[in-house]
Amino acid sequence: MTQRTNTGFQPHTAVVGLQWGDEGKGKIVDVLTAEHDVIVRYNGGANAGHTVEVAGERYALHLIPSGILNPGKRNVIGNGVVVDPEKLLEEIDRLRSRGVTVEGNLQVSDRAHVVMPYHKEQDAALEEFLAGVANNDKGSLAIGTTRRGIGPAYADKINRSTAIRMGDLLDASYLTDRLRVICRLRTAELKALGVHAPPLDADALAVRYAALGERLRPHITDTVYALHDAIADGKSLLFEGANACLLDIDHGTYPFVTSSNCSTLGIPPGTGVPGNHIGRILGIMKAYSSRVGAGPFPTELLNETGNLIRERGREYGTTTGRPRRTGWLDLVAVKYSAMVCGATGIACTLFDVLAGFDRLKICTKYRLADGSVTDRFLPDARTLAAVTPIYTTFDGWTEELRSVTDRKELPVNAEKYLAFVEEFLGIPIEMVGVGPDRRQTLVGV
Ligand code: GDP
Ligand code: IMO
Ligand code: MG
Repeated sequence: MTQRTNTGFQPHTAVVGLQWGDEGKGKIVDVLTAEHDVIVRYNGGANAGHTVEVAGERYALHLIPSGILNPGKRNVIGNGVVVDPEKLLEEIDRLRSRGVTVEGNLQVSDRAHVVMPYHKEQDAALEEFLAGVANNDKGSLAIGTTRRGIGPAYADKINRSTAIRMGDLLDASYLTDRLRVICRLRTAELKALGVHAPPLDADALAVRYAALGERLRPHITDTVYALHDAIADGKSLLFEGANACLLDIDHGTYPFVTSSNCSTLGIPPGTGVPGNHIGRILGIMKAYSSRVGAGPFPTELLNETGNLIRERGREYGTTTGRPRRTGWLDLVAVKYSAMVCGATGIACTLFDVLAGFDRLKICTKYRLADGSVTDRFLPDARTLAAVTPIYTTFDGWTEELRSVTDRKELPVNAEKYLAFVEEFLGIPIEMVGVGPDRRQTLVGV
């Protein structure tokens, strides 16, 4: 009998955001694609916006893994992703029109759940409803979602009987039967949320989505076996997290989170690949903090410094264009995420943005409402909203970092900032981002 063991060196890598998203995961995945064969998305959907810049060309990827710009690599959308077929086809067409090959190098799980138009309507209607209802003077309960239908699509996945999977799009008669039931329910639900549109037309929707399915048919497959076959063939996998650990449905700042397990804990259920295959987990940490949408953010800077960080870092949403909230680096939060994700290394991104500040601050502890001090993160949104950050202050540097090619060339104060982060987290910084282009990445540091 052949015995399989997973105890040796595992060549597979995960990239995961350690803050509230937009840490520069897309760029790091693009860089790491060179040393991997298969790039795999395991969670989220078109709420993600991953930017890759190559030779002055900027690509925004939402559903397709950020490895797609590298010829000869396989890109997989795993079963844990919720796929909006219209958005996926738009993305494929956009990439092809720019000369990027998207053919057999893109596989989509037949078990990935479909984001339907009514999911997007439900998402928007619920947000509008919540925004319009006062919550005892505590502001609204709206989450500030991307309105891409993510929450409602995952809710249907859990409900089971109201869900559609990518494989279902390939069977028009099955799809029609299901949609006839779902649309009756959805029409009533949308009406209750104040959407007074004509009833959903199940048959028309079935025709439209079966046609989208036909266009995607060459890509739809059993990705669980595809990934395990690749592993058996000695290929190396790169898992690309979307959203980020602090937006994780279980481990993030609930309820101001997204609806999937964005931490590395989402990889096994979202791909069918067990965690013991992953030897390297690179946590992506922006050199400061940002957040888009509602929810607690202890180190937020609602002042000129925050505005300056926003402008220098071009902190406007890749998916929605919304200005991102900005603040100092919160290492209490990052250390928690690194623990939950099992980070073995850190990529510190957007480090160039911090040049030119007299003083920089890093949060290393929280003071609670009762005056006590803690170095532990408090993911519950209400508890976190009540903490005051305690900072360590650093002298800044004036030199721009964008043309630096080696960590040893960094200004002394910039190096002190990085060394402090490494010491505090107890995890090495393996990469430093000094600009948006894939070449502006210091590696092996
Ligand atoms: P993701 O969602 O984690 O992939 O990040 P986004 O693409 O949403 O946002 C990161 C932004 O920062 C994008 O505009 C990137 O082009 C840009 N970026 C990534 N790394 C760096 C870096 O090291 N320096 C600078 N200045 N920009 C970067
Ligand atoms: P990437 O992969 C930043 C946030 C939304 C909102 C909350 C819930 O680009 O880092 P949703 O539409 O998912 O129901 O919204 O989560 N959010 C993100 N913020 N980057 C992302 O992805 C995000 N994905 C979701 O702004 O606050
Ligand atoms: Mg993003």
